[in-house]
Amino acid sequence: MSQILLRQLFPDEPTFGGTTHGMQGSAIRHLFMTLAVSSLAARGGGPLRMIEIGSWTGFSALTWAQAMGAFHPAGGSLTCIDVWQPYFTGADLAKGDIYGTMDDLASTGLAYDLFVHNTRFVPKNVRVDHFRGRSRDILPLLQEGAFDLVYIDGSHYFDDVGHDIAGGDRLLREGGILCGDDLNLQAHECDLDHAARSIEENYVEDPRTGQHFHPGVTLAVDRFFGGPVSAFSGFWAMVKGAQGYRPFVPAGAQFLVPDHFPAWLRQTILQTVAADPDLAPRAG
Ligand SMILES: C[S@@+](CC[C@H](N)C(=O)[O-])C[C@H]1O[C@@H](n2cnc3c(N)ncnc32)[C@H](O)[C@@H]1O
Repeated sequence: MSQILLRQLFPDEPTFGGTTHGMQGSAIRHLFMTLAVSSLAARGGGPLRMIEIGSWTGFSALTWAQAMGAFHPAGGSLTCIDVWQPYFTGADLAKGDIYGTMDDLASTGLAYDLFVHNTRFVPKNVRVDHFRGRSRDILPLLQEGAFDLVYIDGSHYFDDVGHDIAGGDRLLREGGILCGDDLNLQAHECDLDHAARSIEENYVEDPRTGQHFHPGVTLAVDRFFGGPVSAFSGFWAMVKGAQGYRPFVPAGAQFLVPDHFPAWLRQTILQTVAADPDLAPRAG
C-alpha cells in the first residue's frame, strides 16, 4: 500500500525527508564512497559487483549506484541485504532518540517500502537487487570471491559487525574493497576497557575523548584487521591482497556529489570540498 502511495507522492524522485532518518551519518562520507568506486572503475573491466549490508531507505545504496553508473561505463550490480525489521536492543530503545522512530518505521514496513521506492532511481547501467533477512544468514548463500566491494553498515553491535566483516571478506575477490560506516573512533583512539564493556550498546560516549562512537564497530574492525585501518570521516576502507589487507588510498580517484543529495546538503558539501586541498582537485 505505501509503495503505491510513495509512487503517487514522489513519482519522479526518491525521498529521504520527514522523520524517516533517511539521510544517515555524515554526508561527506559519501564522497569517499564514490572515491572507492572510482578507484575500482579505473581498473576497467566488466560490470562491477557490490554488496551493501544495511540499506535502510536506500540513501547509501543510491550513492553506490550513481558512482558505478557515472564512473564505470559497464555499470554493475548492487546487492542490498537488510532485515528491515526492528533490531535495536531493549536497552538502546529505552534511550529514546532516533531508536524509537527507526523501530516504528521498520515494524510498520515503511522503511522497506521507502527502500523499494528510492532504489527505482538508479542509473540504467546499474541493477539493484535485495535480500530481506539477517546478514549472517544471507552472506553464506552468496558466491565466494565474486564481489568487488562489500560495504558494512548493518547492525553496529560487536557480534554482528564481526560476522559481517568475516562474511564480507569471504565474498570479496583479491583487489576488492572491504569497507564500512560509522567508525567514529579507532581502537587506539578510545578507552578500550570502556569500549569492551559497551559492546551491547549501539552508540556511547567515550570517556577518553568525550566523543560518541559505536563500540561494536570499533572493536570488531580492530579485531579483524589487528590495527588501524584507513578511515575518512568515519568511512573505513581496506583493499584485499594476496597476503592480507592494505590501506585504501584514493590516489588519482574522483568523487561525485550524488544527485539525491538535497540542494542544501549539496551546497554544504561543495563548500567543504572547496576548502579541502586534497578533495577539491578530484571533483568528478
Ligand atoms: C545505519 S542503517 C543503514 C543506513 C544506510 N546504509 C544508509 O546510509 O542509508 C542500519 C541498517 O541495518 C539493518 N540491520 C540491522 N541489523 C541487521 C542484520 N542483522 N542484518 C541485516 N541488516 C541489519 C537495519 O534494518 C538498518 O536498515
